[in-house]
Amino acid sequence: MDSKIKTLEEKVALAHLGGGEQRIEKQHQKKKLTARERIAYLLDEGSFEETGVLVTHRTTDFGMEKEIYYGDGVVTGYGTIDGRLVYVFAQDFTVFGGALSETHAEKICKVMDLAMKVGAPIIGLNDSGGARIQEGVRSLGGYADIFYRNVMASGVIPQLSAIMGPCAGGAVYSPAMTDFTLMVENTSYMFVTGPNVVKTVTNEEVTAEELGGATTHAMKSGVAHVTSANDIACLEDVKKLLSYLPQSNKEQPKHLPYELNDEIRDSLSNIVPDDPSKPYDMHEVIDGIIDEDSFYEIHKDYAENIIVGFARLGGRSVGVIANQPMFLAGVLGVKSSKKAARFTRFCDCFNIPLLVLVDVPGFLPGTDQEWNGIIVHGAKLLYALSEATVPRVTVITRKAYGGAYDVMNSKHIGADMNFAWPTAEIAVMGAKGASEIIFRREIKASDDPTAKLAEKESEYADKFANPYRAAQRGFIDEVILPKNTRRKLLKAFAMLETKEAKLPEKKHGNIPL
Ligand code: COA
Repeated sequence: MDSKIKTLEEKVALAHLGGGEQRIEKQHQKKKLTARERIAYLLDEGSFEETGVLVTHRTTDFGMEKEIYYGDGVVTGYGTIDGRLVYVFAQDFTVFGGALSETHAEKICKVMDLAMKVGAPIIGLNDSGGARIQEGVRSLGGYADIFYRNVMASGVIPQLSAIMGPCAGGAVYSPAMTDFTLMVENTSYMFVTGPNVVKTVTNEEVTAEELGGATTHAMKSGVAHVTSANDIACLEDVKKLLSYLPQSNKEQPKHLPYELNDEIRDSLSNIVPDDPSKPYDMHEVIDGIIDEDSFYEIHKDYAENIIVGFARLGGRSVGVIANQPMFLAGVLGVKSSKKAARFTRFCDCFNIPLLVLVDVPGFLPGTDQEWNGIIVHGAKLLYALSEATVPRVTVITRKAYGGAYDVMNSKHIGADMNFAWPTAEIAVMGAKGASEIIFRREIKASDDPTAKLAEKESEYADKFANPYRAAQRGFIDEVILPKNTRRKLLKAFAMLETKEAKLPEKKHGNIPL
């Protein structure tokens, strides 16, 4: 018996060693943790249970039968984060550079299948040189098996991808189909084709970092939702993000206990400047409304003219979407529409109520926007919000102009409660632009066109640059004092807790893509 136990212990010890001491040392030199160290940090202490620890590849080409490592380059299993069950896989760069083989993929698929059956999030820690080159198409088949499961799991269980090393070629499509992609700064990169191929095909000279590093994907492409300074910070981000989410689409996010003693927030009264052309920071409004320090921003550096992120209101998890007047006056553009649409759909999948804060002067004009399809991308946000059945509450802080008024969670597209501050201007456009069009002849015929324009502008502003026309029609449920916003929202979301809304029966809609 003793020798049998010893055999098992030896095998497990070998598995724990991955590609060996030297390669572990190399991993550490690159300021990266190993797969096992990452899992140990991510999960509650002692909670990890491993699956497939003794799995090995089946390849015999290129002398591979002599290169066998238990676990085959990926550590898989389940455990808990803050007491909640999660499934996890972590690619082990010390074994064939974390490259994905048929058996490596099978291990990942096994935990994905379990996560789906049980209804709990799956977290992937990616660090891989891509398809296992020695295996050819079997490795590609393994990728496709994972992709297919990503799609089946989409909207059923939360899927989080942390990119903690290379992620290139076909490998990028699994993270792309999960809900959130987190990247570690300076040590991770993602691209479909690397710098060498880029140079050959397009003659562009670009480094891996420029082409697909964390900063590039956070600021330029929007592929990364969150970036973190190092492995530890990234794993902390995974934990934090998860804290706002439910286990699956069948559950509600965890409602944290919260003692209400701070419902009136005077700080909100002086944020919107008197001059409607002056910007202000919508983050101040968000922070003024939500539970203290509870905002977790997504896509922070991408399309900054709209803010999206998770927050808590009286302990309840909510998704916040807010125009940001500090950037491009808070207009809706191609990128900001896509950003907010994707976030809306995530929240709707997972029963997270939506709070929409509006200060939008319209859509961004110009050839760049039109030629890049602002029509279809703007439609994404309109579509996503119209379709969302979670509780939806809107607060218009200032401008809600034109079609963007409709898009930003208006009553007409199914919002449940719509509030406006007294500073709200709900109109087809700003007073100046409107006067220049509708009083053009009168202004032209006047002895003093400038004075006439100012007079007409003020006349238009008196009539429309306020929330009262919309309130008269019932498009706004209540015009509220800014300082009461938190109290009103706490009550509205509590009231909407048991909301039920059904979409017409269909296979699925055809969201503009
Ligand atoms: N298949 C099989 N083995 C791979 C591999 C792959 N796709 N990618 C890396 N490896 C192995 C290397 O042979 C090396 O093995 P060793 O430890 O026995 O020497 C080990 O993983 C580490 O790779 P190395 O190149 O030394 O690491 P690096 O940090 O310098 O570079 C990459 C990392 C990912 C940039 C580089 O390995 C690479 O370009 N890999 C190929 C990427 C690719 O084209 N993948 C296939 C298409 S998806």
